[in-house]
Amino acid sequence: NEGKLWGGRFAGGPSPQLEALSRSTHFDWRLTPYDLAGSRAHANVLHAAGLLTDADHAELLRGLAVLGERYADGSLQPGPDDEDVHGALERLLLTEVGADVGGRLRAGRSRNDQVATLFKAYLRDHARTLADLVLDLVEALEAQAEQHLGAIMPGRTHLQHAQPVLLSHHLLAHAWPLLRDVERLQDWDARVAGDSPYGSGALAGSSLGLDPEAVAAELGFTGSSANSIDGTAARDFVAELAFVTAMIGVDVSRLAEEVILWATKEFGFVTLHDSWSTGSSIMPQKKNPDIAELARGKAGRLVGNLAGLLATLKALPLAYNRDLQEDKEPVFDSVDTLEVLLPAFTGMVATLVFDTDRMAELAPQGFSLATDVAEWLVRQGVPFRVAHEVAGACVRRCEERGVELHELSDEDLAAISPHLTPAVRDVLTAEGSVASRDGRGGTAPDRVREQLAELSATIHDH
Ligand code: ARG
Repeated sequence: NEGKLWGGRFAGGPSPQLEALSRSTHFDWRLTPYDLAGSRAHANVLHAAGLLTDADHAELLRGLAVLGERYADGSLQPGPDDEDVHGALERLLLTEVGADVGGRLRAGRSRNDQVATLFKAYLRDHARTLADLVLDLVEALEAQAEQHLGAIMPGRTHLQHAQPVLLSHHLLAHAWPLLRDVERLQDWDARVAGDSPYGSGALAGSSLGLDPEAVAAELGFTGSSANSIDGTAARDFVAELAFVTAMIGVDVSRLAEEVILWATKEFGFVTLHDSWSTGSSIMPQKKNPDIAELARGKAGRLVGNLAGLLATLKALPLAYNRDLQEDKEPVFDSVDTLEVLLPAFTGMVATLVFDTDRMAELAPQGFSLATDVAEWLVRQGVPFRVAHEVAGACVRRCEERGVELHELSDEDLAAISPHLTPAVRDVLTAEGSVASRDGRGGTAPDRVREQLAELSATIHDH
């Protein structure tokens, strides 16, 4: 049992099949810098507790620093017989500083409190990266909204023409949920920061007088676990981050789906920049929205990672169980996926070219101003129930005549209702309709300008 973390009570080494099943270095090796930081902090509290001489302490720190340098230059690698990152680094430390000094570091800690802490530290760093990447996307949407203030498009419900809206208003409707995702990442981080499990040991804490708060502070946490069983067994922090990444994927996929539709011949609302779209190996004319499609596809993968994690955690008894080794790959995958997807998606959004003439032309079509007729009637004192009926009758008459609402004759209007004077035509333009929706949160240009200012102020708070 040479090189193993246990062995005293075993007569023989593990079978190769067990080793093959057990091994996690191919996915947990990325935790190396965090494991080394944890070991440094742990050496410091062992020293403070009088369990390491000054010389041994210094030698351990030296050895850990050497391993850190070798990891950074790529020369540090786990061996084929290493089970996990923790075992591999202990073995490598022993070869660097010798078994006598190196063998003192494991006192008072377990891989259970180690892995829970390192995993948190790793995810906290990546949550910050993700927040920056999502903010870049929000800023790309903001820039497009700013550039197109005034452009009008068909607003839809049920994918049918509903009411005209500003293109900027629509784009910002994608920005706000993404900004909430950034806030979710920050809320998550603040919660995780207060709960460093180092010091929890295998499950029951340590008898060696070590200071978990000192380790927590050194590792950038604001506090240590209040309960050592919870510290080692809880993985809600993983599931919660997997949820936030899935939510980001879902939010991005809703915009992706619209970009895909908008880029069709039938919509013709956007053209994709050449550098952010792909061609076809057989059809020379094709320009495909692959980034948006990959975004839509990867959302499914992010949702799957969350579902898989929750299934792993369901009904798992306290405290640590080896099932928990299954917690890493899904959320590593979610983080990796977004770190590749978001920069590409942001580039695509930033370079979208909108055909605002086409959008403006379509905006009033499909009787999307019928609500404006009804609300105009309400302002003339007509009860909304009646106004709705009258506006509906206008639509029916238009369909019979094959015209749009503003093309109904004065006679047609008067025949439908005596309240319908020609003055109603004042509201029968997309511009008039949009400008009239001027309550807070509405699509009127002044309100959207205010909204843009509110969005940038919120961005700068983050
Ligand atoms: N590699 C394990 C994990 O990722 C940590 C090791 C804990 N193993 C153990 N037998 N207690 O969860």
